[in-house]
Amino acid sequence: MTPAPRRIAILASLATVLALVLAHSGPAAAQPEPGEALYQSACSACHRSGTMGAPRLGDVAAWGPLIRQGQVKLTAQGWVGIRRMPPRGNADDATLEQFARAVVHLARAGSAKWADPTPEELSRIEREVARLQAAAAKK
Ligand code: HEC
Repeated sequence: MTPAPRRIAILASLATVLALVLAHSGPAAAQPEPGEALYQSACSACHRSGTMGAPRLGDVAAWGPLIRQGQVKLTAQGWVGIRRMPPRGNADDATLEQFARAVVHLARAGSAKWADPTPEELSRIEREVARLQAAAAKK
């Protein structure tokens, strides 16, 4: 038999390891793809059923021509708003990065091989947003 103080020490370190594992696996485990949470809370209002003519999640034919515009351009257009797509998809509290990830979620369901944007891609999206806003201000 292991002496009692050692058993307590072993149990204590097991509890620490368990606490660490739980702390690190919390939200990430419940949320496999980062963009999906925002998609569910904001974008799905239109993009699930096609409200107002929104391209539906998983509609490969509808997303094909959009995906071909490229991740930077498409994300920036959605953020600024284009035709019947409202700016930020009405997700007014979302950051550009969260919005970009929701676009990735939609695009991937539409067969794009996109990944969540890198910091470098995010700054290209920011520059494209600034360019679109400047062009809109001139009109
Ligand atoms: C109120 C309805 C509505 C909501 C909410 C909405 N969308 Fe849209 N979205 C649209 C419509 C409608 C279009 C099609 C625009 C058109 O071509 O007229 C569209 C188009 C888009 C496009 C294609 C833009 C382009 O360049 O043609 C992207 C990307 C997009 N939405 C992303 C999102 C994301 C991401 C969210 C959530 C953060 C979101 N949308 C929420 C209605 C919505």
